[in-house]
Parts: sequence; C-alpha cells; structure tokens
Amino acid sequence: PEKFTMLTGDRPTGRLHLGHYFGTLKGRVELQNMGAKTNVLIADYQVITDRDTTEHIQDNVYNMVMDYLACGIDPDKTMIYAHSAVPAANQLMLPFLSLVSEAELARNPTVKAEMEASGHELTGLLLTYPVHQACDILFCKGNVVPVGRDQLPHIELTRTIARRFNNRYGKVFPEVDALLSDTPLLPGLDGRKMSKSYGNAINISMTAEETAKRIKKSQTDSERMITFDPENRPGVSGLLSTAAICTGRSEVEIAEEIGMGGSGQLKKYVTEAVNE
Ligand code: TRP
Repeated sequence: PEKFTMLTGDRPTGRLHLGHYFGTLKGRVELQNMGAKTNVLIADYQVITDRDTTEHIQDNVYNMVMDYLACGIDPDKTMIYAHSAVPAANQLMLPFLSLVSEAELARNPTVKAEMEASGHELTGLLLTYPVHQACDILFCKGNVVPVGRDQLPHIELTRTIARRFNNRYGKVFPEVDALLSDTPLLPGLDGRKMSKSYGNAINISMTAEETAKRIKKSQTDSERMITFDPENRPGVSGLLSTAAICTGRSEVEIAEEIGMGGSGQLKKYVTEAVNE
C-alpha cells in the first residue's frame, strides 16, 4: 500500500448519497485504512465548467466534508482539500497546456457529452478542464485514481501529460492508473438512475427517520409477490438492489425470503438494511 498515492475528487454540487458511498467512498476508506497515501479533492473550480452559477458552493463544500467524515474518511490519514484553497496547484496548468494539442482536447468524449448536456457552446474551460484535472492528480503525485468510467479519457490524458513532461524536463511525475470499482451501479429506489431531481436517492446525511420516510414513499406496484425483475418491476427491483448492496446478499435471495410478504415487508427490510 505504501507505494500508492491515491487522489480522487468530487464536484461539490450537492449531498452525497448511497450510490456515491458504495461506488467510491467505501473504496477510498479501504485504501486509507490499508495505509496508502490518500488525498481527496473537492473540485470547486470544476463546478463552473458546465454551469453558470456558484450558488451554494461554499455550503456544498462544507457539507461534502461532513459526508466524507461520516463515511470514515479520517482527516488524520487523508488530506481533504478544495481547489480554491490551494492556488499553487493551478501553476501546473501552463506547462501542462503546452504539452497537449487542441485536437487532442477536442477529441475527449466526456467533454463532448458534457458540452451537449450543458446546452452551451464549448468554453475554453470546458475544453481544458481535463488538463486541470491532470494538475489535480499530478500535483499530489497521485498514481492511483478511483473514478467512474466516464473519467477514463481524463486519466489517459493525465498519463500522456506526465510522460511528455518527464521526457522534456526529466522524471518528475509517476505513471497514473485509474481504479475502477467492481460494484455495479446502484439504481435509485424507483429503479431509475439515482438522481437528486428524481427524489429517489438516500443521502448519507439522512437520519434513520428520514431514510425510513423516503423508502416508504417509493413507488412499487400492485403485485404482492416480490420478485427481482428490473425490466418490468423497476420499483420493487430498485428496493431489492438497495437492500442487496447494504447486506451483501443477492436480490433474488432477498426476494424469495420476502415472497408473499409484499412491498410493506420489503420496505421494512430495506429500511433496516440501509440504517444498519
Ligand atoms: N471530474 C470528476 C467528476 O466529475 C471530479 C474530479 C476533479 C476528479 N478532479 C479530479 C476525479 C481528479 C479524479 C481525480 O467526478
């Protein structure tokens, strides 16, 4: 573990939820406790890549720190910092920009998708933020970066930049690898993509009562018999997936156990599993 320096980050756009916990936070805590050097970045400058406002950003940064601490990220072992708190990190941006071509930047599929989703033209920042992300990683001399698949083009760019920098100026930066989680993507309680706007996520900050309420309100269907069928029964299946990931059991096993207990019993089971 001592050979690894982890750096990963999050955009502070809202509260972290169960999907974040199982998708990445839990893994960060494991690396931390194994003795890797661990760094977590709250990417506040990245918020302005695809939105026009920085409203609530300070609250979001503080809340994100609280969610991290609640999940077991230990500030005695892990450095937590925000972009805006370390202006020196930006100094890498100039030499790094000199090492990439406009065409390389324009090819990045994640940037293209974000531009389309934003409904805006391609700003200079949106085009170059993956270089800023390379600054994040290499500033910490990070060599292992837990990220989602959409971030792989940025990691590839980081590798390219590090290699070119080392060739030109002498070896300074390590070889970087992405670390993909093998946890399947957790759907929301209603089976749709987990999203704040759908109200189908359980936030890490929710109390046991708030968690129970959110689960109680989630949509199921009129069939009493509980079965795992994500295609046709998204609500029941979303609940089963939530219980499965919290308990380490399989969805089918839980469904069979509840059987004719119906959605009432299923929700009770899910609530206990999540709160536990
Ligand atoms: N772009 C990442 C995201 O949207 C957040 C991020 C910023 C990041 N800097 C990083 C992730 C450095 C890994 C390493 O999720």
